[in-house]
Amino acid sequence: MSLEKAKQVAAYRAVDEFVKSDCVFGVGSGSTVVYAVQRLAERVETENLKVICIPTSFQAKQLIIKHKLTLGELETNPVIDVTIDGADEVDSNMTLIKGGGGCLLQEKIVASCSKKLVVIADYTKDSQKLGDRYKKGIPIEVIPMAYIPIKNKIASLFGGELKLRNAIAKAGPVVTDNGNFILDWVFTNQDLDWEKVSSVIKMIPGVVETGLFVKMCQKAYFGQAEGTVVER
Ligand code: 5RP
Repeated sequence: MSLEKAKQVAAYRAVDEFVKSDCVFGVGSGSTVVYAVQRLAERVETENLKVICIPTSFQAKQLIIKHKLTLGELETNPVIDVTIDGADEVDSNMTLIKGGGGCLLQEKIVASCSKKLVVIADYTKDSQKLGDRYKKGIPIEVIPMAYIPIKNKIASLFGGELKLRNAIAKAGPVVTDNGNFILDWVFTNQDLDWEKVSSVIKMIPGVVETGLFVKMCQKAYFGQAEGTVVER
């Protein structure tokens, strides 16, 4: 069974467990969420569910529109019943690394407005300690003019290496939906207190958000290679 199938079974399970009629639903970002939106669209059609969808990125907004779902925003729906989102890594404490797709800021805002954050992922994201499986580091969204001082400060505080994320197809850095840059922090110490680390990094002027999601996620579904789903 392919990795894609593993993503699909996790996404379908989460949507079937958590999405009810008359709910406000946060739509995460990334390739696994595409399956969640597909499943939601099927259920809206067949069960006539009433669901307002709040996007976490430009990509999520496009998905909602493409599937003819009801698009909402935090201005009119500041309380979200459940958000279903992907993750780059989930440790045994349910601490997440997010932002592999560069959408961490809006993802965290939407998650912070949600009664529940449910993660959907394939089995490769399921780990004991952050850094066991995901090797690209923790994404940090920064104001462009400050990326060098931020990079130096984080390296001197916590060690490791920080790389400015570059666009694959064209020269120059990735620019987020919010007009910012991303630093990927490849850390060396896996035993850091991630809650503290995230708040210390956020105090550095010019840091907008970190891809560390600590104590935010209540449930995770990991699709397995053979098509089953492991819950945490
Ligand atoms: C985007 C994210 C994604 O949710 C994360 O990168 C997982 O993506 P995928 O489902 O494609 O593996 O945080 O910023």
